[in-house]
Amino acid sequence: MPRPAERPSPDRLLREAAARLDRRRFLTVTSAAATLAFTVNLPSAHADTPEFAPRLITDDPFTLGVASGDPLPDAVVLWTRLAPRPLEPGGGLPPAGSVRVGWEIARDERFRRVERRGSVRAHAEFNYAVHVDVDGLDAARGYFYRFTVGAWASPVGRTRTAPARTRRPERTRFAVVSCQAYEDGYFTAYRHLADEDLDAVFHVGDYVYEYAIDAAGGDRKYTDRVLPAALDHETVTLEDYRLRYSLYKNDPDLQAAHSAHPWYVTWDDHEVENNYAAGIPEKNQDPAPFVARRAAAYRAYWENQPLRLPQPRGTDLTLYRRVHCGQLAQFDILDTRQYRDDQANGDGWQYPTPESQDPRRTLMGATQERWFAEGLRRSRATWNVVPQQVVFSRRKNTTAERSKLSMDAWDGYPAARERFLKAVDEAGTKNLLLLTGDVHVAYAMDVKRDFDDPGSRTVGVEIVGTSVSSDGDGEEKPSNWATLTAANPHMKFYDGRRGYTTLTLDRHRARADYRTVSHITRPGGTVSTAASFVTEAGNPGLHPA
Ligand SMILES: [Fe+2]
Repeated sequence: MPRPAERPSPDRLLREAAARLDRRRFLTVTSAAATLAFTVNLPSAHADTPEFAPRLITDDPFTLGVASGDPLPDAVVLWTRLAPRPLEPGGGLPPAGSVRVGWEIARDERFRRVERRGSVRAHAEFNYAVHVDVDGLDAARGYFYRFTVGAWASPVGRTRTAPARTRRPERTRFAVVSCQAYEDGYFTAYRHLADEDLDAVFHVGDYVYEYAIDAAGGDRKYTDRVLPAALDHETVTLEDYRLRYSLYKNDPDLQAAHSAHPWYVTWDDHEVENNYAAGIPEKNQDPAPFVARRAAAYRAYWENQPLRLPQPRGTDLTLYRRVHCGQLAQFDILDTRQYRDDQANGDGWQYPTPESQDPRRTLMGATQERWFAEGLRRSRATWNVVPQQVVFSRRKNTTAERSKLSMDAWDGYPAARERFLKAVDEAGTKNLLLLTGDVHVAYAMDVKRDFDDPGSRTVGVEIVGTSVSSDGDGEEKPSNWATLTAANPHMKFYDGRRGYTTLTLDRHRARADYRTVSHITRPGGTVSTAASFVTEAGNPGLHPA
């Protein structure tokens, strides 16, 4: 089977776009390129940045909470960002300079047994974001952490290191979340997620949305505050994206979920723009400014997430990565957005065509595909878990023989899906568990070796987690519930309400609990379990628990 060509890099796209354009439009590209250079090509050393005294910060700078992420057996990344007035430009701090931030990590909540402490500088250049990669920690242990600036102390966060690579832990429990449009409702799901007993949270994309948010916060219908007009247009510039993260991170429910558990994050489309593909914007916008926009969005993402990755260089940010829960689970966290071919047939729901079925089409890019296949071959884990973005399994939206499919999901990239399944076959992967977001509903699906043949082998399972808030309250059985479940016999569950999904893995089975909240367009929703499924190790296929 032919392999896809590597995607041209956005840097190259930008140069090519500039070469194609006439002189008048070239000015636009030149200014876009200048913006880009300003946005991303910044030095990584700040030794000469002037440092100002913490006492100049007269309001609590910890309005965005704290977070931890990407735990390893001996290390975890601690994050915060200083913003005394989060919804003002610059967060209420000087537009240049830096300030010293202390951090400590302890065995106990009262910080009597501090394991490590230190200080770093938060820089205006990075919107006063702080990433501390604390190492020298014990494996599979809970820790507490906090930051200080002068007399100000942050809230205390809880985190947990991963088990040692050589161990096969009895059990692990984690959650999958996605899609949190602020303007669609409250983050009630996170309030409840914070109370769960979890080792980690996986966020599979749409952490922020780019759309305009009105003064009342959309469907949150605030009466006690007025959001700034700067939020009431689509995000384009670095300042726009930074302000968007400030709004989200200021939410108390989101803060509770971050401070309760370490997170592993990956993005989908809305962190930049709906349904973009690599360097190609959603509609027919000029590609050069889009690449500058994407670079700004990636940078703001990096600034605001507890990532171990170095700061973005150029226009790209390598986000796909592999982590382990000892030998119980290997997690291949994918990025199906940054390297994909453009959606076929003009995107949306379309009948498959030679265009969508072109064997060269890629969703992961050739480099990530090779990395994924190699990782499966080397895996010694009981479970191979793949947190990723868009629906992997076939999803027909009519019971007719020939049916339209989503061109943005793996259904629009069938050759790429076939290569993925071939890699699973060739590696002898026994327990494949895909974790998906994007669609704002929950599904439980068996992954068939050949979706055209309902009798074909089940090679794994796909747990599609619903949205945290996107699309509002939702309903248990959306209008297409009966059609979708009849049209797709491998679909074992479909629920249209908001929430999150917890996964509990041991050596014998994996269990998914679909947690749904009663409502989100007003505060105070309650949580319950809509359904639970299990799949047995060595015998893939979902069964009601
Ligand atoms: Fe979404």
